[in-house]
Amino acid sequence: MAVLCAAPRASGAQQSTGAPTSPLSAFDSAKAEALLRTRVPCLGCHAIGGTGGRSAPDLTHVASRRSADYIRAMVTDPARALPGTTMPRVPMPASMRELLIAYLSAGATPGALLVSSPRAADSSLRTGASLYARYCAACHGERGTGDGPNARYLPVRPAMHADPVAMSARSDDRLFDAVHGGGYPLGRNAMMPAFGETLTRQEIWQLVRHMRTLCGCAGPAWSRPAPAPSINPTPLRR
Ligand code: HEC
Ligand code: HEC
Repeated sequence: MAVLCAAPRASGAQQSTGAPTSPLSAFDSAKAEALLRTRVPCLGCHAIGGTGGRSAPDLTHVASRRSADYIRAMVTDPARALPGTTMPRVPMPASMRELLIAYLSAGATPGALLVSSPRAADSSLRTGASLYARYCAACHGERGTGDGPNARYLPVRPAMHADPVAMSARSDDRLFDAVHGGGYPLGRNAMMPAFGETLTRQEIWQLVRHMRTLCGCAGPAWSRPAPAPSINPTPLRR
């Protein structure tokens, strides 16, 4: 975790740049909660009111710890607010982002701005395996067995990337799309986050190749590149 320090503030001299933290209407609260359950992956990693993952700070009373500005910055562009964080930037319409920020910030005190000390940017080698350990293993398990520490808090089991039967039914492009766009656009569970605004395309392809080593399998025949001259019926192995 980052070391946190309260920024000194001359009382009354500074105005928060965030939205005013007026209490939300019951309708807006209910709408935000519905989005959190079905549309956005936040509860895959964060808990609110006892529901959700445990790989990120509990957001139930985040407004008592964090300023509205900080909450806004994290939800809008996590890598910029907190360099080196594993929180992905979640793609969503601006109106939805505003509602979630307002929901989390309700009651936040503008004077209680907390500033995170910048962390060293992640300089470790970004291989498929290290990316998987850092961004995926909390839910999918280090070896892709679908049983990472967060899995039991999720409404559906994370895909088992080590399962050659399930994985050989999925094309590489499908795996890429799932990692790039997340579960929601594919009609899958929204707790699978989108990483397309966090990782490069090259990094996502590295993850696809890593998932292929976890299952020791290839995608369906139709999805593979042009057939080699000689037919080779053995599945891809390492
Ligand atoms: C893949 C996991 C993951 C997802 C999905 C995720 N976050 Fe986070 N988030 C984190 C982690 C980890 C941190 C803590 C920062 C750090 O230490 O890197 C964090 C920090 C935060 C913070 C600051 C909390 C604090 O106490 O400092 C807020 C606010 C936040 N996230 C909101 C959200 C919202 C809203 C969503 C959904 C739109 C979301 N997060 C989705 C992992 C995630
Ligand atoms: C917060 C938990 C969480 C994290 C972090 C996470 N996933 Fe997932 N993932 C899920 C869940 C849950 C599903 C199952 C969705 C379903 O079956 O409806 C899933 C499904 C998938 C699928 C299958 C989609 C399909 O049906 O074709 C792929 C591929 C995948 N995840 C890759 C990854 C990769 C790679 C990472 C890391 C970059 C990652 N996931 C990070 C929770 C997570």
